Amino acid sequence: MVVIGGGVTGLSAALFLKQAGKRVCLLERDRLGHGDTIHTTAHLTCDTDARLTQLVKTFGADQAALAWYGGACALDLIEQIVTENRIECEFRRTPGFLTAALDGTRDETGDLQHEATVARKLGFDVDFVPCVPVVDKPGIRIRDQGKFHPMAYLAGLANLVQGDGCSIHESTTVTDVESAPLAVLANGFKIACDYVVIATHVPLTGKNGLVKASLLQSKLTSYSTYVVSGRLPAVQVPDLSLWDTGNPYYYLRVDAGNDFDRIIFGGNDHKTGQETDTENCYDRLAQTLSRVLPNAKLDHRWSGQVVATNDGLPLIGETTDRQFVATGFNGNGITFGTLAGMMARDAVLKKENPWQGLFSVGRTKILGGGWEYVKQNMDFPYYFLADHMRRLKHATARAIKRGEGQILKIDGQRVACSRDARGRLLKVSAVCTHLGCLVRWNDAEKTWDCPCHGSRFLPEGEVLAGPAETPLEPLAPSKRKQKIKPAADA
Ligand code: FES
Repeated sequence: MVVIGGGVTGLSAALFLKQAGKRVCLLERDRLGHGDTIHTTAHLTCDTDARLTQLVKTFGADQAALAWYGGACALDLIEQIVTENRIECEFRRTPGFLTAALDGTRDETGDLQHEATVARKLGFDVDFVPCVPVVDKPGIRIRDQGKFHPMAYLAGLANLVQGDGCSIHESTTVTDVESAPLAVLANGFKIACDYVVIATHVPLTGKNGLVKASLLQSKLTSYSTYVVSGRLPAVQVPDLSLWDTGNPYYYLRVDAGNDFDRIIFGGNDHKTGQETDTENCYDRLAQTLSRVLPNAKLDHRWSGQVVATNDGLPLIGETTDRQFVATGFNGNGITFGTLAGMMARDAVLKKENPWQGLFSVGRTKILGGGWEYVKQNMDFPYYFLADHMRRLKHATARAIKRGEGQILKIDGQRVACSRDARGRLLKVSAVCTHLGCLVRWNDAEKTWDCPCHGSRFLPEGEVLAGPAETPLEPLAPSKRKQKIKPAADA
């Protein structure tokens, strides 16, 4: 069988399938973990992006408990894999805290007390704390959550998958999935298989056909999230992970060390491609952190991508015969990815799985009802029309400085022009290869991002994140001497 995607979901699925006696071929477009696993801050928790009380209201108490139990099971599975195989990935059990909003002024004590009571009634080891360490806000403490080094864990999984008839192929781009007979096309080769697991964060079209794939896509929203990290003088704060009730929410992880503590702080999420000043997202994040931990000295920053559903639960299961998809993990990529690996194994073995109904790709019960669904899907028509009708303003490629990008109109084509650090001008079509919106320049990450469904591209056009599956088109050669016309805002 073929697993597409070499993040935690793909490698977990490959390992569990191998342990079940299957021969697995895992294909990864880039390097293992270089999609989104490398950017995760790896808070391992059973808490979901939707509050437990909200899950109870929408799905009922049993199903809400099942959702949390899924995270708890994934944590146990990870711990078991780490312990049995002695994977050195700094896995640790730590308390996880949900705190009142860091930016908020409303007293959330009553809500948080209620959240803790509901969790305890459903059998989880949770209590209300009037003052969460570090942030001095009320919150709830969930015992026995966890954290680890995601890339070290991934390396351990890869070692376990490789060999005995199973193989991993990096730098291998899947271009098509054929259905009769089932086969995956990648790097010019055809790999015959009897089952396909699509573990690509944003799912490929696969053998769904465009209509079914677009329907699945309409249940997903891509967000960019920002992270800064740095050092604190040792033993200033306890080892923990926390996240707040804000929307978007902040998250903080503290790893105590001997000489200094390492902190990782993230938040300021926005829909991918819809923020014009992405540098400012980092600045605001650093300012918020300096209020909470004034002694923190920052030395790294990065951004990641979160694929969200509007009910806070993932979409995991078969989309069509012998094709399994796992996506929409919200802020729980590692735990839901691990669980998805186990569910993929059960789907292949045709075994019942406790989560197959709740996380079903075809479920219709969603938080916020139909209006939330409609709101999340207004981006495509709005940006598609707005971008294609936008009034143009004058600019030339010469005006683009190193590290900048802008959309120019050249010979009637809208062209995504950027200049790299060496001064080279890079030009590709500005039309997103997913459904035709215009991409926008992301100044902080030096990428072209699409505001409609969140595809991201490198300045040379290669796909960094889907749902687009093909690169931005290279520019057709100019028929006359380059004449640059008015340009749109990038
Ligand atoms: Fe859908 Fe660009 S049009 S991601």
